[in-house]
Amino acid sequence: MNKPATAVLRCSNVIKQYDSEPDSPRILDDLNFELFAGQSVAIVGASGSGKSTLLHILGGLDQPSAGEVFWNGENISVFNEADLGLQRNLNLGFVYQFHHLLPEFSATDNVAMPLRLRGIAKAKARAQAQAWLATVGLEHRMNALPGQLSGGERQRVAVARALVTEPKALLADEPTGNLDTHTADLVFAEMKRMNQTLGVALVLVTHANSLAEKCDIVMRLHEGRLIREN
Ligand SMILES: Nc1ncnc2c1ncn2[C@@H]1O[C@H](COP(=O)(O)OP(=O)(O)OP(=O)(O)O)[C@@H](O)[C@H]1O
Ligand SMILES: [Mg+2]
Repeated sequence: MNKPATAVLRCSNVIKQYDSEPDSPRILDDLNFELFAGQSVAIVGASGSGKSTLLHILGGLDQPSAGEVFWNGENISVFNEADLGLQRNLNLGFVYQFHHLLPEFSATDNVAMPLRLRGIAKAKARAQAQAWLATVGLEHRMNALPGQLSGGERQRVAVARALVTEPKALLADEPTGNLDTHTADLVFAEMKRMNQTLGVALVLVTHANSLAEKCDIVMRLHEGRLIREN
């Protein structure tokens, strides 16, 4: 018999309260979630429902008030800060709602950064970064600094930076929020291609129904719980 697959991402009984008062609102209320290689999940929900909070907790960028997060079956609470960073680099790509590019580095060097952190030589890392920038339609802006790019262009740099390492899971928080429909489709198609060809598990927070419905699973976050919609 085959061994059951290990979830790439899993959270178990996660509670999140931003306020330490015991009766403060539970943004995430005993939430359970798992995601396997090759799956794609869209997370939808009203503004303020906790979508970014959930993504940050799944990505180990914020800590739950209670409950646990696992990457490939490993409880991430055992990692110290350095190991957490290393494991995140090895496992995850993250596209933030607000892009977090390094302002003093060019588009190419921003995208090359996660490869450099893996110890890949500069020339090779830059070449791979430039291939990804071309994929998201930015071949003409590779040397620009983030401050010289439009909002949508910055977001595309952030997507390239998240995909360049070919992560096991991609967590993307409104990655197409600032893009016109055509560019949004292009960027989403690239994520979906990685999902289908390499099995990169995809968690996509989006307000766009047209994109959500292209994911295998659509979940709505409401009152701290995830409810399947399809
Ligand atoms: N650092 C924080 N401290 C206190 N409250 C916070 C903090 N971050 C978020 N919140 C609150 O938690 C709730 C969930 O926020 P979150 O950013 O996860 O929502 P969201 O679903 O991503 O919303 P949007 O669609 O607007 O991006 C909101 O009420 C927000 O005000
Ligand atoms: Mg958000």
